[in-house]
Amino acid sequence: MFKQFVPAPVPADDLAAALAPFGQSRMLPREAYVEAAVFEWEKQYIFSGWHCVGHASDLDGVGAQKAVGSGKNSILLVRGEDGQVRAFANVCRHRGHEMLACGSTAKRRGVVCPYHSWSYKLTGELRNAPGFDDADGFQFEPSAFGLTELRLVNWHGYLFVDPSGQDIDFEQHVAGLEDIVGPYRPEELTVVDRHSYVLDTNWKVIVENYQECYHCQAIHPELSRISPPTSGENIDLPGDWMGGWMSIIDGAQTMSLSGASGGVAIKGLSEQELRTVMYLVGFPNLLVSLHPDYVMTHVMTPLGVDRTHVECAWAFPKEALEAPDFDPSYAVDFWDLTNRQDWAACESVQRGLSSPHSRPGPLAPDEDGVYQFVTRVAKAYQGTR
Ligand code: FES
Ligand SMILES: [Fe+2]
Repeated sequence: MFKQFVPAPVPADDLAAALAPFGQSRMLPREAYVEAAVFEWEKQYIFSGWHCVGHASDLDGVGAQKAVGSGKNSILLVRGEDGQVRAFANVCRHRGHEMLACGSTAKRRGVVCPYHSWSYKLTGELRNAPGFDDADGFQFEPSAFGLTELRLVNWHGYLFVDPSGQDIDFEQHVAGLEDIVGPYRPEELTVVDRHSYVLDTNWKVIVENYQECYHCQAIHPELSRISPPTSGENIDLPGDWMGGWMSIIDGAQTMSLSGASGGVAIKGLSEQELRTVMYLVGFPNLLVSLHPDYVMTHVMTPLGVDRTHVECAWAFPKEALEAPDFDPSYAVDFWDLTNRQDWAACESVQRGLSSPHSRPGPLAPDEDGVYQFVTRVAKAYQGTR
């Protein structure tokens, strides 16, 4: 996929063990979670391909701008006059200043560099470079200095960027998902609450935790009462996504402390969709949890080998928002509690993995979802996809 591919700096025998058949395999090499060199490799070869950079609704109105990602993968998102969101490398064509600091937002009719005030149109073309107009002897062609545009796709309201420009076609990335995600029409839902968490753990520990409910009985008593931990099944998708569903007990309507919904079911869902929650991983950094009456997403931004920013957002159908007494806390509080139970476990795993005595462990029969993810990462490390 990428020119001049070099394999990830992890021991080859540990990698082979991770790729052994399910039932005989091991977790990823310890280095994958604790070595800065592996994290740098992942930034170059995993996070430089298709990954989620947030919701289209994060950019509210013409001129809305937001810088996302971190370090060399920093991306500037801009909504243009035509209503389209575009992605640019977050770097000025003059001497390289960031257009916006990571995580910050702006709203104006152009993009202006804070360093020497070069300004760009919302489409990325250079509009003005102060001082060049009447300078004798300067050869300067503004059209050659537009912001570098990156491949971006708005898929059901989620924004995906391929900074390398070399990843597979986006249709392949999301192959098999239209029938699963489409019925929930996430692009029509409204994000009504979001929580931002910074976790002292590697991003993969968070995905691995999301990919199994083997831990649910032990650390999620509230969740286990509403959704039996062994009730689901994983699905096999042809593209870059993975996941599975779990069912909701009879008498409950959704994932909340009481099992009751404080909203309304998303119109048009099937009987099966109304009785289950679908948990999807958009490899590498998006988690989508499709509930009968709301959709929750987690977007992860790795900050370091042992540090990850997670933004969790809850989106509801407009019929729910129209109710005068609508209160999303039934969903938000339930998942904030569950998130925190998960984050404590993930941070403990990270501390454990930092021990020189930690060794890649075996996967339990209920951890086939973890196997899906681990083998996907291991193949990326090898360059076999
Ligand atoms: S670096 Fe942006 S204007 Fe100079
Ligand atoms: Fe969990």
